[in-house]
Amino acid sequence: MDDIIKENNSINLSNNFLSKPSNKKFDVVIIGGLGHVGLPLGIVLAKVGLKVSLLDKDLKKALMVMNGELPFVEYGAEPILKEVLENGNLKVHSNDEVISSAKAVIICLGTPIDEFLNPKTREFLNLIKNFKSYLSEDQLIIIRSTVYPNTCEQIYRTLGEDKKWKLAYCPERIVQGYAVKELFELPQIVSGMTQEAQDEAAELFSKLSPKVIITPLKEAELIKLFSNAWRYIQFAVTNQFYMISKRFDVDYDHLRISMTEGYGRLANLPRAGFAAGPCLLKDTMQLASFDYSNFQIGHAAMRINEGLPNFLVEELKKVHGDLHKKKIGILGMAFKADIDDIRDSLSYKLGKILRFNGADVSYTDEFAKNPDFITKEELVNKCEIIIVGVPHSAYSSLTIPKNAVVVDLWGILKKSDGN
Ligand SMILES: NC(=O)c1ccc[n+]([C@@H]2O[C@H](COP(=O)([O-])OP(=O)(O)OC[C@H]3O[C@@H](n4cnc5c(N)ncnc54)[C@H](O)[C@@H]3O)[C@@H](O)[C@H]2O)c1
Repeated sequence: MDDIIKENNSINLSNNFLSKPSNKKFDVVIIGGLGHVGLPLGIVLAKVGLKVSLLDKDLKKALMVMNGELPFVEYGAEPILKEVLENGNLKVHSNDEVISSAKAVIICLGTPIDEFLNPKTREFLNLIKNFKSYLSEDQLIIIRSTVYPNTCEQIYRTLGEDKKWKLAYCPERIVQGYAVKELFELPQIVSGMTQEAQDEAAELFSKLSPKVIITPLKEAELIKLFSNAWRYIQFAVTNQFYMISKRFDVDYDHLRISMTEGYGRLANLPRAGFAAGPCLLKDTMQLASFDYSNFQIGHAAMRINEGLPNFLVEELKKVHGDLHKKKIGILGMAFKADIDDIRDSLSYKLGKILRFNGADVSYTDEFAKNPDFITKEELVNKCEIIIVGVPHSAYSSLTIPKNAVVVDLWGILKKSDGN
C-alpha cells in the first residue's frame, strides 16, 4: 500500500520541478480556467503560492473574475480570489499563447456526451490538438477533465508520438460548490504516462492535499467514472424505493429514517430526489458506452432517475385528475441544493412534462437568475400545487398555505396552520 498512497512527506521531490529555476512566467496555466473545476483549482493553487494563469475563452466570466467576483456559487472562494488577485499570484488570460509560459498545463475543459449518449471524444481531442503549438516536452500536462477510458492515450497520440510528452491524469473529485474546502481535504488520484509525469503531478497536488494516491493511468480513468456511476446508482436505488413506497401508500422518508437509524450498514442510503447535473448521468453513460452498452445497472439507473419527474406527474394526475390549467409551481431549478448551476437539472424536465399536460407552470430559484422566474413567496401564494425541485435551505422557512398540494421528497416545507 505504501507505494500507492503517499503522505506528503514521502513524495519523490528529487526532480522538484516547481522550484527549479526556469524562464517560465507561470507555474501553472489552467485551460478552461474559469469553469466549475478550473476556477476553484486555480484559486487554491495561487493561494498556496504558485503563479497561476487561468486561460478561458469566456470573456464575460473573465471580466467578473478579474474584478474579484465569482461567476457561480463556490463557497469560501471569493475572499481567496481577492487575495490572490491582489498579491499577483493569479492572472486571467484569453490568448492561448500563455500556455507556453507555464511549467505545468492543467486541462479542465468540458467532456460532454452527444444526443446518443456517447462521449464527444473527437471534439475534446481536437481542442487539445489546437493547443499543440504552444506545448513542449519540458512542460507537465495534466488532464483534470473526466474522460472516456483510453482518452489519455489518444491525447498522447494526438500530440504526436515523435515527442516524449509528460502527460498525467489526475481526475477532479470535488462536489460542486464546495471545491475550495475539498481540494485541501480530499486525497488526490495521480497517474502518469511516465514516471517523471507522475512524480511531478504528485509534487503539484501535494501542495494542496494531505494525501496523494498513485495509480496506473487506466485505473485512474476508471476510478473517476466508477465514482460517479456509483453515486448515480445509489440515487437510483433510493428513488426506486421511493416509487415503490408511494405505490404502497407508505411515507418513504419516514421509512428511510426508521430503516437506517442505528443501522450503520445502510448509513449511506441517500434521500430520494432528482439525481441530475452535468456529471453523474454523463459519466455513467460514458462508462456504458465503453462497456459496449452492456452496463445494465447504469442504464437501469438512468431509467429510474430520469423517470422520476414522469412518475411525480403521473401520481399527481392519479390524485388530482387532469392538470390542464392547474397552477403548478416548482421550487428550485438548480440541479443541487444551495448552488446556482442549472445544467441538466431535472426541474426543467418536470416543468416540460407539466406544461405538456396543460398546466400553468411557474419557476423560482434562490441562486439561479432568470427574468422569467418569480419569487418563492409569489410562487407559494399563487400555485395550487407546489413541487420541490431542489431543497435550497431557504425553503425550510417558507410557510405554505394550508390548501396547497405539496410534493416534497425532501420534507423541507412546512404548512401553515391556517390561522
Ligand atoms: N462540475 C463539477 O463539479 C465537476 C467535478 C468533477 C469533474 N468534472 C469534470 O471536469 C470537466 C470540466 O467541467 P466543468 O463543470 O468545470 O465545466 P465548465 O463548463 O464549468 O468549464 C469549462 C470551461 O472551459 C472553457 N472553455 C471551453 N472551451 C475553451 C477553449 N477552447 N479554451 C479555453 N477555455 C475553454 C469554458 O468557457 C468554461 O469556462 C468535465 O470533464 C467534467 O465532467 C466536473
